[in-house]
Amino acid sequence: MYGKERWNLGDISSTAFHRRLFWLVLAVLTTSTLFLLSRTNSKISSFRPPSPEVHPVAVPPAKEPVKVPEPWRFDTHRDGLNYGLSDEQCDAAFPDIFQELTRARDHIIKSKGSITKEDVHVDRKEEYKGRQHGEFHVMIFDGQLYIIKEVPGEPDRSRGLAALANMYRALSSIPDPKSIPNIEFIFDIEDVAQDANHKPDRVRWTWARRTENPWFWVMPDFDGWAYPDDGVASYPQFREDVAELELGYRNGWDEKPSKLSWRGSLAVNTQLRGDLVAAAKGHNWSDVEAIDWHDRSNIMAMQDFCRYQYVAHTEGNSWSGRLRYLHNCDSVPVIHKLDYVAHYYPLLKSSGPQQNFVEVNRNWSDLSEKMEYLIQHPDLARHIAGESTRVFRDRYLTPAAEACYWRRMFKLWRSVMSFEPQSHRVAKDGKIVRRGVSWERFAFRQEKSFEHGFFEEDKTKYDEED
Ligand SMILES: *[C@@H]1O[C@H](CO)[C@@H](O)[C@H](O)[C@H]1NC(C)=O
Ligand SMILES: *[C@@H]1O[C@H](CO)[C@@H](O)[C@H](O)[C@H]1NC(C)=O
Repeated sequence: MYGKERWNLGDISSTAFHRRLFWLVLAVLTTSTLFLLSRTNSKISSFRPPSPEVHPVAVPPAKEPVKVPEPWRFDTHRDGLNYGLSDEQCDAAFPDIFQELTRARDHIIKSKGSITKEDVHVDRKEEYKGRQHGEFHVMIFDGQLYIIKEVPGEPDRSRGLAALANMYRALSSIPDPKSIPNIEFIFDIEDVAQDANHKPDRVRWTWARRTENPWFWVMPDFDGWAYPDDGVASYPQFREDVAELELGYRNGWDEKPSKLSWRGSLAVNTQLRGDLVAAAKGHNWSDVEAIDWHDRSNIMAMQDFCRYQYVAHTEGNSWSGRLRYLHNCDSVPVIHKLDYVAHYYPLLKSSGPQQNFVEVNRNWSDLSEKMEYLIQHPDLARHIAGESTRVFRDRYLTPAAEACYWRRMFKLWRSVMSFEPQSHRVAKDGKIVRRGVSWERFAFRQEKSFEHGFFEEDKTKYDEED
């Protein structure tokens, strides 16, 4: 009975115990399942690609001191051959190179107000006496170079091609050639662009101008492309050759002979050049000789003038492009009083602490006195040579400076132009035709005659423009 009773008791109590145990196990199982489920869920969700909202917030960088950018400075070795400097860089590097251009612009404003369409055509027969000058009618339109017309003159037309190549280089070297304004102009390729056969107020782009002629716009001469003779491959290459030559003088200028070098033909500017030869004759500082083109035994390569402490310069038929080459020598330029102005001549200084050349009379009467003084005062002479290389070779006569000059010339010319260039025109038969020929095609076909403003094969497409 006890058993039963116990059983019963036990039975009752055991039933209640088991019920409690059942609920307890169920509760534990449920809780742990839920716990595990929630963990699994959280694991799954952590594998989801992060939604945009959960991107980590960018940590602001630690504050650095604000760096003021170094102002750009022209470096001859780095930038001398950079044809594409910006306007701001041109101003910073070559502040004094534009004097000849601002002078020409100011003269137009003062004298006639502006350049009109009527000013921009090659010389018409009724406008000159004697011989026709070699001229190019040129247009820049939408950053591209066009030749509207070419008339042949006495000089080799390669001078014109060199100028056009220089213009093209200055145009195409900047990131946006279209930033150059549309312009039209005429350039004259003669040595003496102004003579008594033309009216005195004729406006042209020229290699040089007589000091008293305010009308011409002086462009960098064709020697900035290459020199016609004396073994110069190109202007930039000449500069490299001279740099190498100068390395041979370990003590620089002091190591060169204290002599004045010059070679030239007496066939041009005979009086002036003959006076130089006479003034130098018999002096122990002279290496001055006239050359005979038939003999040629005493001819000197352009770079060899740089082997002397002193280099003499003479004008030719008008200005002479040789001076820019002599200005690349670490030497003292000795120059007679000049009748002509080339594009960079406003920078020539004949006295003061920044003296960069020695000026003598046109008849060379004071040459020997000045040479002897310089030889006795080498500190002064060395200083002048140093100023010459600093100002000319290493800055204002770099190819970079010249490209700046060309682009400024385009802009300042435009600033006084009173008309808008037209890319097209109506031909005689009523058809709309393009004006001129692109430089690309002109250079490509340059051996062909272009006298009437078109090539022979284009006869049907073009007619002659005034
Ligand atoms: C050159 O000649 C001058 C006199 O004219 C003389 O004083 C000088 O010593 C000479 N120089 C040389 C290097 O011979
Ligand atoms: C040389 O030129 C100077 C300056 O122009 C002048 O004073 C002098 O008389 C001239 N000499 C001769 C010989 O012509």
